Amino acid sequence: TDGWKAVTPADEVEEDDVVCVTACGRRLAVFHLEDGEYVVTDDRCTHGEASLADGYLDGDTIECPRHQGVFHVPTGKAMSPPVVDALPVYPTRIEDGQVWVQLP
Ligand code: FES
Repeated sequence: TDGWKAVTPADEVEEDDVVCVTACGRRLAVFHLEDGEYVVTDDRCTHGEASLADGYLDGDTIECPRHQGVFHVPTGKAMSPPVVDALPVYPTRIEDGQVWVQLP
């Protein structure tokens, strides 16, 4: 296949919120940003074992609940220590009411 998977109904992720889903054995964070954009990233923090879906979403940044590292959600860029490595961000589209993600 082309690697696209439907991971959740789009309307199950409220605007300005993030949920954790599992697809193909991966834990993903599905963000619905306040500007309406959907972004899908790994849910696991690149610094340690923590679920970013349990973190603090502030506009387009997410703060890790474990050591308060911050990532820029649309790009995955690490913005604030202790996080150094970028968060993987996956190609995402909305179709037929579902959030579709292209996994490598
Ligand atoms: Fe996320 Fe340490 S586990 S900042």
